[in-house]
Amino acid sequence: MVRGPRSGLPVIVAVHSTTLGQAVGGLRMWHYPDWRDAQADALRLARGMTYKTAAAGVPKGGGKTVVALPSTVAASRRRDALLDAGDVIESFGGRYATGPDVGTSEADMDVIASRTRHVFCRPLPSGGSGDSSPATAAGVVAALRALGPLAGRRFAVVGLGRVGGAVASTLAASGATLVVSDVDPARRGLADSLGAAWVSPEEALTAEVDVVVPAALGGVLTAEVVPRLRCGAIAGPANNQLQDESVADLLHARGIVWVPDYVVSMGGVINAMAVEIDGVSAAEAARRVDGIGTTVGDLLEVADRDGVTPARAAMDRARTRLENGLVHSGRD
Ligand code: PHE
Repeated sequence: MVRGPRSGLPVIVAVHSTTLGQAVGGLRMWHYPDWRDAQADALRLARGMTYKTAAAGVPKGGGKTVVALPSTVAASRRRDALLDAGDVIESFGGRYATGPDVGTSEADMDVIASRTRHVFCRPLPSGGSGDSSPATAAGVVAALRALGPLAGRRFAVVGLGRVGGAVASTLAASGATLVVSDVDPARRGLADSLGAAWVSPEEALTAEVDVVVPAALGGVLTAEVVPRLRCGAIAGPANNQLQDESVADLLHARGIVWVPDYVVSMGGVINAMAVEIDGVSAAEAARRVDGIGTTVGDLLEVADRDGVTPARAAMDRARTRLENGLVHSGRD
């Protein structure tokens, strides 16, 4: 933890793995009871990024930056915190590069870029790949299609932020029936415009639907909530959905298919790396993001064949790549 000299706010950069390459992971600006909670979150999120890039077949490692915000923060102090974060990221000398995440935007990446070049997803006019959330949302939809048709089925989208809101819009346009929630009452307007039922986050999570899509903060799937779930499957972009790994077994025992969050949410990082590192066209990047559907299909098949949870199948695949590298495992 570094206390930002300009902002006075805690800045935490966690690098979990550089086995496959430079660690990447967004900058989260969020509220925490204590900076130690922010640090614990950064460590968990960095670990998730290691599995995300490995499972995606992207030659990058895992890291994350967290800035713990006070309950209210002036725009100038927030900007100072971005500059502070940029300096801390620069001090890693290229072993870690950041990008957007909960609480930060592509415009914020430009502010960071004034302190370090190790930043992805700057706005298109600045030479970056722009906001990663449309690609993340497209990847979520590809994952959901791998679970079955969208039209005529019921989905609960928990969180209508940049990713969840885009997923809900696509689902509604595809003829799905929606139950949605957000902690921010201002998002209700979007729900109404989509013809979605607006409920509390707790009700959305436990709604009687085909698929629950967690698209807010992590830790929502606990041992306590599993017996109350009434869905057939869970697949969403929120990072670190499981309170701990044993919850995957509890879900499996209840016959609920849980698709690992780091697979469902890998569209943003796949798109940014395809455009900014490989220099491919937007169409080719979109094709790679759509490949998440194939990845999910493969994982469910392997899980079924081997009699293991999709969580185990995904972890085995990521670990094999971390041990053997990406060369012989190919891109998916
Ligand atoms: N923050 C997003 C994620 O968790 C996306 C992202 C991070 C994109 C870093 C590019 C670089 O995957």
